[in-house]
Amino acid sequence: MKIPIKRLNKKFSLPNTPKVQQGWDRVINRFNDMNISIESFIKLGEGCYGCVYAINDRQVVKLTKDSSELHTMAIVMKYPHPSIVKVIDVFAVKFGRNVINFIIEEKLDNADYEWKLFANLANEDTNWITPYLVSTTRDNIIKYYKDNVYAAERLNEKFDWLDAIAHYFQLHKIKFADIHFDNIMKKKDKHILIDLGCSRSPKQNVEYLNAY
Ligand SMILES: Nc1ncnc2c1ncn2[C@@H]1O[C@H](COP(=O)(O)OP(=O)(O)O)[C@@H](O)[C@H]1O
Ligand SMILES: [Mg+2]
Repeated sequence: MKIPIKRLNKKFSLPNTPKVQQGWDRVINRFNDMNISIESFIKLGEGCYGCVYAINDRQVVKLTKDSSELHTMAIVMKYPHPSIVKVIDVFAVKFGRNVINFIIEEKLDNADYEWKLFANLANEDTNWITPYLVSTTRDNIIKYYKDNVYAAERLNEKFDWLDAIAHYFQLHKIKFADIHFDNIMKKKDKHILIDLGCSRSPKQNVEYLNAY
């Protein structure tokens, strides 16, 4: 599949003009420099800020309007964490005043159902995980769910995973407490957090390419 430039222009509020096309040619060259042909991208997902394409069977690229994610992912690239997606490259492209942020990441597999269920506690009616990261204790949550959803040990294992990530965020002054079921994926037997959109972190010195 060829990357759908026209649809991307619409998504990122860019007009279909020769100037914009020229801008995309610069982006294509930037990818060629990395030996990546954007001819073979396959779309994996789309949200309100951007979209994610598979580059090949090992890498994906996320295009997003959300600059907060670019800066946070630049930190993750510099300081990798075993439970956060491996970041291979980050850069931003300026189409005049419009900025598109590019994040190249390792391609992961879907998480198993049980983890989806766990993380789902975050964004359905209970909203447990986000308060856990900010205020409540795991004992409170475990007490509530012990008889209903999981054995306490199984929950503890998942909260240990969350604690390690929360510690990493604290260490690097990243503010992010919005963990959703569809943002946990899997690599072999390990669960991995993707998508740090709408985070806050210290600004990084990232590459900006002027498309025009
Ligand atoms: N590293 C990855 N490996 C495999 N699939 C991914 C990866 N990152 C994102 N995806 C797929 O793309 C979807 C959207 O990505 P995400 O980063 O969550 O974007 P959004 O900010 O739109 O929610 C994910 O739900 C997942 O299906
Ligand atoms: Mg997401």
